[in-house]
Amino acid sequence: IPVEAFDLVIFGGTGDLARRKILPGLFRRYCAGQMPDGARVIGAARSDMDAAGYKDMVADAIREFGGGRSCEDGTLDAFLDRLHYVAIDARGETGWSELTDLMRDSVQVRAYYFSVAPSLFGDLAERLHSHGLADDQSRIVVEKPFGRDLQTARALNASLAEHFDESQIYRIDHYLGKETVQNLMAVRFGNTLFEPLWNAQYVDHIQITVAETVGVGGRGEYYDKSGAMRDMVQNHLMQLLCLIAMEPPAKFDPGAVRDEKLKVIRALDKVEPHHIVRGQYAAGPDNPDFREAVGDARSKTESFVAMKVGISNWRWAGIPFYLRTGKRMSARSSEITVVFKARNHSIFEEDGEDHRNVLSIRLQPNEGITMKVTIKEPGPGGMRLVDVPLDMSFAEALGEDGGDPPDAYERLIMDVIRGNQTLFMRGDEVEAAWAWTDPIIDGWTARGDVPKPYDSGSNGPTDADQLLARDGRIWREVRP
Ligand code: BG6
Repeated sequence: IPVEAFDLVIFGGTGDLARRKILPGLFRRYCAGQMPDGARVIGAARSDMDAAGYKDMVADAIREFGGGRSCEDGTLDAFLDRLHYVAIDARGETGWSELTDLMRDSVQVRAYYFSVAPSLFGDLAERLHSHGLADDQSRIVVEKPFGRDLQTARALNASLAEHFDESQIYRIDHYLGKETVQNLMAVRFGNTLFEPLWNAQYVDHIQITVAETVGVGGRGEYYDKSGAMRDMVQNHLMQLLCLIAMEPPAKFDPGAVRDEKLKVIRALDKVEPHHIVRGQYAAGPDNPDFREAVGDARSKTESFVAMKVGISNWRWAGIPFYLRTGKRMSARSSEITVVFKARNHSIFEEDGEDHRNVLSIRLQPNEGITMKVTIKEPGPGGMRLVDVPLDMSFAEALGEDGGDPPDAYERLIMDVIRGNQTLFMRGDEVEAAWAWTDPIIDGWTARGDVPKPYDSGSNGPTDADQLLARDGRIWREVRP
């Protein structure tokens, strides 16, 4: 879908996210012909540099973090011509008149990307307003973390709401921009095959795993204050859970989709302390332990969480959802697995095997779908059953068309320009997610809970396995 010409101002335009994701993503959209004539990208940050210096920085970032298949030689210079830079102080007066001059005669869609600490969101919103830089068609884009609990999220929502309507606020959860995450909706609601079985009558349980091999990297200070619960569960895993569990929205539009997601979050049961396992990675052959990585020898922050979650509604009552995520696990692998109930009667001789259908949706890497089905073992030895995978890799099935999907950020930024909020979190959704998360974290703090150590390269503490073993279940293998 074509986009209108736009001015995108990136506050924090020299920061890590801008260099790694936002600017390379915009460049790839430029190469794909999605940046109309007249569209401009304006970096705004505290560094005192000129436009030439900014272009050099952006060119380096694009070389390091990637153009796309469709980017031909020579396009980089043309893209750089679209860039501007303003040295600005979010809390002071520096730079605001330059930015106002630059935007003065612009009649294009205006989007302001707040790629800065949340503590600056309110100041930026206020200054955009007081300098007349925003009208009721302007959009603002905000990044996670959106608060660190319900109270701070509410305060952020309130400070943005002073100057912007909810329809102008785009809260990013980059998981919603991933091709396969959107595919969850296509698979569920584009087929007749799955939805009749997608409920407590046929599903035994659902697993969601988001495993990472990386550690906390250079983000120790941030991560030590967040932990896996705030960094991954409250947002990314929550969104996956919503998409897998929600009722079919009447339409694929922002209001309908977000209403259904919100209902899931509000129906989540309170999590019992013995249904959660926290872990913290120990040193590996090539990496320090978590505490060294974050620079706090007594840190009680978790780098791994596994939990059992219930959803008290008509569709899911009694069906456990097992979620886990962690750093320094055995492979980078995100997968959702729906394990169906066993047949209620077998016409075949029992062989002691647990023949049940399992649907796995691999989100990354090697995106695809696998369905375990039971067939007859070939050969003359009578009716013996064997389980085989019906395996579909999106890359193989879609060939060239599926090979180079836009990265999550590219897609989401273009959705901002198009004015489509479907893949962004609404304020009430974020608050509901915190309302569910807060008591869990408060409980840990009150009890002085210390996460269990686990080996780097393993899949979390053994307690995580016991969490399922107690229910007679096992985790899916974490496969690269
Ligand atoms: C981010 C988290 O939101 O998501 C990181 O802050 C995490 O800690 C990252 O590594 C994972 O994203 P992806 O796209 O690599 O799965």
